[in-house]
Amino acid sequence: MSDGREPGGALQELFDVRATVALVTGGGSGLGKAIATALVECGARVVVADRDQDRLDRMVEQLGATGRLEVSRTDVADAAAVDELVDGVVARHGRIDSVFANAGIARGAGPGHPSGQLDTFDMADWTALLDVNLYGVLNTMRAAARHMKRQRAGSIVVTASTAGLRADPLVSYSYVVAKAAVVNLTRQAALDLARWRVRVNAIAPGPFRTAIGGEGRPDPAKEAMWSSMVPLGRMGDPREIQGLAVLLASPASSFMTGGVYPVDGGALLQAPALPDEAGPPRTQFER
Ligand SMILES: NC(=O)c1ccc[n+]([C@@H]2O[C@H](COP(=O)([O-])OP(=O)(O)OC[C@H]3O[C@@H](n4cnc5c(N)ncnc54)[C@H](O)[C@@H]3O)[C@@H](O)[C@H]2O)c1
Repeated sequence: MSDGREPGGALQELFDVRATVALVTGGGSGLGKAIATALVECGARVVVADRDQDRLDRMVEQLGATGRLEVSRTDVADAAAVDELVDGVVARHGRIDSVFANAGIARGAGPGHPSGQLDTFDMADWTALLDVNLYGVLNTMRAAARHMKRQRAGSIVVTASTAGLRADPLVSYSYVVAKAAVVNLTRQAALDLARWRVRVNAIAPGPFRTAIGGEGRPDPAKEAMWSSMVPLGRMGDPREIQGLAVLLASPASSFMTGGVYPVDGGALLQAPALPDEAGPPRTQFER
């Protein structure tokens, strides 16, 4: 059935983010940087918050000339600082249309490593990770919700992970637990905030080449390990998150809320086991 739209005409309006104001936490690197860059390139006003000043400076070098980028040094683990950040965006621009709660860290080894097992992992790492990957997301969502409820509009997008949707041999206990928590935080908030026409969704990336495991390209052995978990046979390029991010910030996603969208090269289709520690696997009927 045709609705009379011309190719390249009204359909483009669905993805139009030019009149919007967006905030991206952890926007100084990796996936957040790709999201912020895409939104700036599509004409949105974008505030990038990051705790790393050098990365913010580099963003300004790259995108400052557009006149559509602002940066703010903010630690998302600090709830008062996040409130101040979001209040500031609204005070300057009169609104906030999309908020990407993206900042996150990796801490501790996966259970394949002797220091990453249930009885060996470091509780200080556990706490440090939850402060950012769970409480940082919660702080960001709460600050956004206060304004979006008043506006009766808004889109919150959480960067979760495939590691929040299943067990994962390559990342720490704290990481999988925080990511699983933000998945259900997303769903609960979607249910809650729908009454005010505020939408809440999550992106679940598989392995992407970013600075999260250390700056620069990962060493070939690590890259091969990550790629082996991906049916498409490689790690993702951060630019491969941009299409979904723009969709979720645009009117094209107006009926999407409570969703968790994998961008993972098919990684969720399989979950490799760790090498056996107890001899060859057999049933109880075999000797
Ligand atoms: N790279 C992957 O393979 C992958 C996979 C799944 C999910 N993710 C998630 O994507 C998000 C972005 O990670 P990335 O891979 O782009 O990593 P990255 O390290 O390249 O970028 C993360 C950015 O967040 C910032 N940051 C860290 N802690 C912060 C804090 N407390 N306050 C403000 N800013 C902070 C860092 O300075 C950095 O600029 C994270 O939530 C991560 O868990 C990444």
